[in-house]
Amino acid sequence: MKNYKIVVAGATGAVGLEMIKMLESRNFPVKSIRFLASERSAGKKLKFNGEEVPVELLTKNGGKGIDIALFSAGTAVSKEFAPFFSNDACFVIDNSSAWRMDKDIPLVVPEVNPQVLRKDKKIIANPNCSTIQMIVALKPLHDFAKIKRVIVSTYQSVSGAGQKGINELTEQTKAWANGYEIPPANKFQYQIAFNLIPQIDVFTENGYTKEEMKMTNETKKIMGDNSI
Ligand SMILES: NC(=O)c1ccc[n+]([C@@H]2O[C@H](COP(=O)([O-])OP(=O)(O)OC[C@H]3O[C@@H](n4cnc5c(N)ncnc54)[C@H](OP(=O)(O)O)[C@@H]3O)[C@@H](O)[C@H]2O)c1
Repeated sequence: MKNYKIVVAGATGAVGLEMIKMLESRNFPVKSIRFLASERSAGKKLKFNGEEVPVELLTKNGGKGIDIALFSAGTAVSKEFAPFFSNDACFVIDNSSAWRMDKDIPLVVPEVNPQVLRKDKKIIANPNCSTIQMIVALKPLHDFAKIKRVIVSTYQSVSGAGQKGINELTEQTKAWANGYEIPPANKFQYQIAFNLIPQIDVFTENGYTKEEMKMTNETKKIMGDNSI
């Protein structure tokens, strides 16, 4: 089997760290690996299979000689850097929402629509996490009897808001447990410790939030059916 030269862009984030763990635990055939992030983390060290790997600054040249770049550094970063990586013949698997609804970019759940992958489409978008889980269950049902409408409830963990979300819940919970004043909300609009916030992402003009519309639009694109 071929071994791949990999970079992880956003390696120090909640998703990036999980990607690194998955590459390790699945024994992904890695020939070499580089970890990229912003200047905040450049110079730090992360472990891969027991070896220390330095975190480097993400630059436009980062895709040279690389086979696969796993991007999870946010939408703006993907927009800015992914095209340079893909021009360097590197496959970019992008975890942000930057490219998902671009009609020229495949939006792929491997169990559902691998047929849209093409060798000349170097950026591959990864759907919203709630969309992915839902659509794996819905696809066979849709093939069997067309789905018209889906009513969805999701219960989202703070990790969906990144490392800062996890830190905010941890700090507030610790303060409460120690009898200190709970630190004010920062990443979330309200205190998140011992709370549930019935809103995810900002509201759009139609009254649904952006996150809700992602599930709607991405489902239609992956299923190839705008009537759902
Ligand atoms: N598809 C899905 O299922 C799914 C699920 C969750 C999240 N996501 C997406 O994945 C992305 C990352 O989420 P997260 O939860 O891991 O966020 P996070 O914990 O805040 O981590 C962000 C990562 O991006 C890096 N970064 C930020 N700005 C950068 C820049 N200008 N240049 C280079 N690196 C930069 C950070 O590096 P520093 O350490 O240097 O700050 C860090 O490694 C987001 O787009 C999020 O929406 C997708």
